[in-house]
Amino acid sequence: MIVISICISNALMAQESPRVRESFDLGWKFVKFFNASNEAVTTDKEPENLQLPSVNDNTWRTLDLPHDWAIEGPFSDALENNTGLLPWKGIGWYRKHFTISENDKGKRIYIDFDGAMANAKVWLNGKYVGEWPYGYTSFRLDLTPYVIIGKENIIAVRLDTKNWDSRWYPGAGIYRNVWLVKTSQLHISQNGVFCTTPEIKKERGILSVEAEVESHIDLPLSVSVKASVYKLDSKGNTLPQLVAESSVLTASMPASKTHIFRFDIPVKDPVLWDLDNPEMYKVAVTVLNENSVTDRIETNFGFRTLNFTPRDGFFLNGKRVQINGVCNHHDLGALGAAFNTRAAERQLEILKSMGCNAIRTSHNPPAPELVELCDKMGFMMEVEAFDTWRIGKKTQDYNLVFDAWHEEDLKAMVRRDRNHPSVIMWSIGNEVPDQQNPYLALDLNRIVKTEDNTRPVTSGCDHPNSGTDGFQKSLDVFGINYHVYRNEYEKFFALKDNANLGIHSSESASTVSSRGEYFFPVKLGNLYNNIPGKGIFQITSYDVAYPLWASTADQQWTMLDKYPAVYGEFVWTGFDYLGEPTPYDGDTTGLKPNQWGYKEILKMLEIEGVKEVPSRSSYFGIMDLAGFKKDRYFLYQSRWRPELPMAHILPHWNWPERKGLVTPVHVYTSGDEAELFLNGKSLGKKKKGEFEYRLKWDDVVYQPGELKVIAYKNGVKWAEDVMRTTDKASQLSATADRASVRADGTDLIFITVRIEDKNKLLVPKSSNQLNFSIEGPGKIIATDSGDATSHELFQAKTKKAYNGMCLVIVAAEKGATRSFTVKVESKGLKTAAAKIDIVE
Ligand code: GAL
Repeated sequence: MIVISICISNALMAQESPRVRESFDLGWKFVKFFNASNEAVTTDKEPENLQLPSVNDNTWRTLDLPHDWAIEGPFSDALENNTGLLPWKGIGWYRKHFTISENDKGKRIYIDFDGAMANAKVWLNGKYVGEWPYGYTSFRLDLTPYVIIGKENIIAVRLDTKNWDSRWYPGAGIYRNVWLVKTSQLHISQNGVFCTTPEIKKERGILSVEAEVESHIDLPLSVSVKASVYKLDSKGNTLPQLVAESSVLTASMPASKTHIFRFDIPVKDPVLWDLDNPEMYKVAVTVLNENSVTDRIETNFGFRTLNFTPRDGFFLNGKRVQINGVCNHHDLGALGAAFNTRAAERQLEILKSMGCNAIRTSHNPPAPELVELCDKMGFMMEVEAFDTWRIGKKTQDYNLVFDAWHEEDLKAMVRRDRNHPSVIMWSIGNEVPDQQNPYLALDLNRIVKTEDNTRPVTSGCDHPNSGTDGFQKSLDVFGINYHVYRNEYEKFFALKDNANLGIHSSESASTVSSRGEYFFPVKLGNLYNNIPGKGIFQITSYDVAYPLWASTADQQWTMLDKYPAVYGEFVWTGFDYLGEPTPYDGDTTGLKPNQWGYKEILKMLEIEGVKEVPSRSSYFGIMDLAGFKKDRYFLYQSRWRPELPMAHILPHWNWPERKGLVTPVHVYTSGDEAELFLNGKSLGKKKKGEFEYRLKWDDVVYQPGELKVIAYKNGVKWAEDVMRTTDKASQLSATADRASVRADGTDLIFITVRIEDKNKLLVPKSSNQLNFSIEGPGKIIATDSGDATSHELFQAKTKKAYNGMCLVIVAAEKGATRSFTVKVESKGLKTAAAKIDIVE
């Protein structure tokens, strides 16, 4: 082959790296059209050809991304409560006018969508560019052939959720970030750098880098690639000192082709990424032609080892680690599906404080920032691809595009996230109805391996035979969802064929509860014994109620303790989410109505006359939709942070109507024993027995006053908690999660508002209407009480508190300085305020 050295572009040669990746989120125009049968608000018909440059979009709404067009509501009983009673079905159009300067002449121009819900079709200057149906996949489109240099360009994106179904609230619109990427004609492919660490020893690690370079030049070229390794500090900043460097690799690249460069770089004394110290490195890969840089990409990675043993558990860096994980859907409560980094970080902070160490991104690929946060904060991840394969769970779910798109979607998911040390497993599916088809699973497993063969492939299975009928052998790690009562572990381990296969609980518990609600008598077990009664669409917080397939946390732990070979669990779910308000959900799941479904519930409640159930969000969360801790938080904390001295009493102690009635008291503690006192009188000491995880005093006769528990560990006083009957509500408190905020248009402050008595005690059942206002350059983004039945808009500046609490999410006006104050008022209560400083 003749290799010709050419100068790609003089302009490019002068620069250190010609690659520019810039946010493309600002200043979009938006309009939406709804399908009459799905939407109660408008029946506007979609005009034709909105992609054409001649279309006047002046009257369209101007907004910045990420944007979820449905979160503004309103809630409507005419919509499905399985998907949140929100108007997410419809057609949405986004357009953006932009210019590409003469300086970018000769470059390649790409647009990267982190995710767009759903069925995205994209045009530039009226010309069709491409499409991507699955709303959760990050994808790139090449704009180069359609871009006009030096003049206005118009990009148009059509999204269609009318032809999409979901078992939860999917959101709608360009709900994640969008990027414009400009490169030279010789550059690293999208997600084309792959870092692995095949050798990790104390004094030396090997970083293996694969860099896929693509040439858009129709002449052969001599191309060189080199890589430099740096250490990051805990904030993610690059430390200046070079840690290691590769030699320069040179290859002859044929015209308009790709080539993969591979090299190993020894790194001295590698510092390991782990859960407590998530140490990260960065490799900068530089592409050169004739000594001129044509591309440079920085990729974060970490050194860590994973070992999924068949019978001895899971090991991270050679240490047995129990997976104490949660599943989460992608919505961020009152913010909807519109991704916000601070909101996700706040969720992870709450989870970390509970002792959670892993996230399963049920049941779809996550926003890239979530994976970055997990790297940085020390969480492990099971990144999941699909909720269905070829056989759907709903008419128009992924089954519609599975055959045409699953390979693209899977590859895109793995390529994007394969360098992150937090990702420990790939899940190819959740409870897919194709569980009888191991060949399909094998094929998906194969596809994952073409992009990454360093991590096991798993799938969350619910079919009673999936662990024994051969399906399990299509996976590298088996995943069982629920069904502890069927003793799946025993069956799985008993099978000789499974001797080399490990297992984890990919989904567990599904206990349901509403924060601050307690109903009597307290009955362990099936949810349907725990329906509180006429017109109350809440569920007890004694943490004893669960649907037929599920269990309490305690029952799950009994099994995990009996079978320590199981790697651990992912609890359903960390946070309440929009949609799927089991047991008050719509009867649309296709499941047998005599098992569940709200019609049955309505019968039980003897309120068949009631047509609609108000619930629009789930009860599964350990935290409610606002992110407030339910009692269960403390149950998980007691097990997941055994070294933390803690004790937690439930229920609240305001029961004027229960004077003289038996009112059971449960205590969650990391101690092993505790003594409970009512108004100073001991109600006895209790000790946790084998497979007991909470302490219960079932015969407590209610009298107002003070409940106090003193917990012990190994006979030594360990922790205490007090619950007091409160006085009447007299004041509000407002506590911000942080004292200062950046005025960058994305940073958020989460303020917890409480209704308190004169002694600052939370008044449990209070539900006063709260009014929020701002003084200074701040704005209210959303409010939420965590009540799954509330139909007040998330954007409303007034909200009824739910069991004494409410959340207000605020931001600084973009570019503002100094500070602003958030005020909360309510009739008859002393006003509260929180001052927020604005920082750079
Ligand atoms: C599981 C399913 C989850 C959720 C959960 C509720 O079977 O995988 O998506 O529906 O049940 O308990």
